[in-house]
Amino acid sequence: MSTATTPTYETITVEREEGFATLTLNRPDKLNALNELLLVEVRAAILTLAQDRGVHALIVTGAGKAFAAGADISAMIEMPPAMAKAFADAGHAVGDALESAPFPSIAAVNGFALGGGCELALACDFIYASDKAKFGQPEVNLGVIPGFGGTQRLARRVGLGRARELCYTGDIIGADEALRIGLVNAVHPLESLLPKAREVAKKIAQKGPLAVAQCKRVTGRGADLPLERASELEAQAFALLFGTSDQREGMKAFLEKRPPQFTGR
Ligand code: COA
Repeated sequence: MSTATTPTYETITVEREEGFATLTLNRPDKLNALNELLLVEVRAAILTLAQDRGVHALIVTGAGKAFAAGADISAMIEMPPAMAKAFADAGHAVGDALESAPFPSIAAVNGFALGGGCELALACDFIYASDKAKFGQPEVNLGVIPGFGGTQRLARRVGLGRARELCYTGDIIGADEALRIGLVNAVHPLESLLPKAREVAKKIAQKGPLAVAQCKRVTGRGADLPLERASELEAQAFALLFGTSDQREGMKAFLEKRPPQFTGR
């Protein structure tokens, strides 16, 4: 059930529910191919949701049979290099917005997640796949490479060898193989994919939002740092949370044997 009004977009829909939001890529006749407008709208929606103190998790999914079948090939075919760079920057800006948002994002991959679609899913904190999902970085078939973070985030998620194999061959893999290599956290029948993602989003929304935001920040930034610096980052974030009312409330509620009432302060 929608609990707040959100801006209207042409290529996506955003539905607000209690504690979380669902962003649906909505160009089903083009398998949700990512064109410039869609990238701009996805980023704008994430930035708007990041200002909303009631949003504690985001689900990203696709309308129809695809999550997203990649960057829009018909929009790219005539691009000169400078325009291609701007297009790649727009794709990266979406990844940056997802990673900088205070709330975690869950990609609920319903169908094809190819090229930019796979990259968009990889920019989310984790991925749930339907049994119909298919993943791949088939850009080499088109004479190009992944441009929205695939060469980097895929390797960080599944390891350099598997990422290179997928990027060099353009192979498309099913949900079970994606689960086996650690690209996705779980596979669900298509009809239970969104209910499962909602259940997890609701669960996250009930936790201390400042704690979840710091968990996201520290696991994300720490992954690219030497262990010593990453551990220091963790210790600082741990200490920071002891200056919040949510820490007092969470610990007091435990000792008083009642559920906590977090306020995000
Ligand atoms: N860019 C632009 N349009 C795309 C697209 C993309 N990445 N992927 C699909 N579409 C369009 C098709 O051109 C078609 O449009 P049309 O009906 O106007 O002809 C429509 O979406 C449906 O796609 P179609 O190919 O007919 O569906 P399918 O079920 O037969 O095949 C795929 C599905 C995903 C295998 C196939 O669409 C595909 O290979 N897409 C491109 C994947 C890719 O290379 N992505 C990386 C881009 S960098």
